[in-house]
Amino acid sequence: MSSVSQLQSPTQDEIILAVNNVEVVFNDVILVLRGLNLTAERGKITALLGANGAGKSTTLKAIAGLLGSEDGEVSRGDIVYNGMNITEMSPEQRVRNGTFLVMEGRGIVQDMTVIENLRLGAFTQPQKNVAEDMEKVFTYFPRLKERTGLAGYLSGGEQQMLAIGRALMARPDLIMMDEPSMGLSPLLVKEVFGIIKRMNEELGISVLLVEQNANMALRAADYGYIMENGKIVLDGTAEELMNNEDVKEFYLGGGGNERKSFKNIKSFKRRKRWL
Ligand SMILES: Nc1ncnc2c1ncn2[C@@H]1O[C@H](COP(=O)(O)OP(=O)(O)OP(=O)(O)O)[C@@H](O)[C@H]1O
Ligand SMILES: [Mg+2]
Repeated sequence: MSSVSQLQSPTQDEIILAVNNVEVVFNDVILVLRGLNLTAERGKITALLGANGAGKSTTLKAIAGLLGSEDGEVSRGDIVYNGMNITEMSPEQRVRNGTFLVMEGRGIVQDMTVIENLRLGAFTQPQKNVAEDMEKVFTYFPRLKERTGLAGYLSGGEQQMLAIGRALMARPDLIMMDEPSMGLSPLLVKEVFGIIKRMNEELGISVLLVEQNANMALRAADYGYIMENGKIVLDGTAEELMNNEDVKEFYLGGGGNERKSFKNIKSFKRRKRWL
């Protein structure tokens, strides 16, 4: 892995999360992450981009400790959060320490109300925080306050907002989001990303944002990583990535639905040092 960034690396204190040389296997055989390295800076938005099947969701599940339920495990490397090695920590303990994953497909409970879903997010919090935090969530998502029915009847955008609101209830220092733009209209994507940016700026929450929508993600992010086949192939500031010719061509261009790979481009040999 090499960086296009010439800027100074963040210090240990500035790093909230470090994924060091992590390998993940499923069912003892399928190697999905192949020595993944990335860091997220405190108070910043870090984007993790890549095509279908690159290993983005697996990365987030490894950080959240949720591989076990799918018979996956971190077979090499470690994950350091706030200076603590959390590689073997239980998922609940990771939430108590301030991480929260907003899952792909949102994972809200369809046959519970908005309020009940929000309460679920507060499972690590003392009762006295709940009412206050709910009001805070409603300042970000005022629309949710008016929805008194079951969460299953919310629109896709509202469900995404509820999933993010539920994460806020855990008072996280680091929110991880798996494709928050999925299934949303362009207008809603813009709204959701605007809220993510506000949460980051107003509450100081660090964000690790997984997206296929590279355009939106890089516009919101400070720093970005691009992954292919379980490895990071390029990283840099959001601005550097947006201006990088290959990123433009393969991730930002309006080139239809076909997802291309760095491997297929002529400049691959020149760029091979990334891999
Ligand atoms: N539970 C599992 N068991 C076996 N293989 C898995 C499992 N989960 C994921 N994989 C494999 O790992 C690879 C990466 O999957 P992952 O879901 O992390 O990719 P992704 O980058 O999130 O893709 P997408 O953009 O489609 O969400 C894929 O080849 C997938 O088939
Ligand atoms: Mg995924």
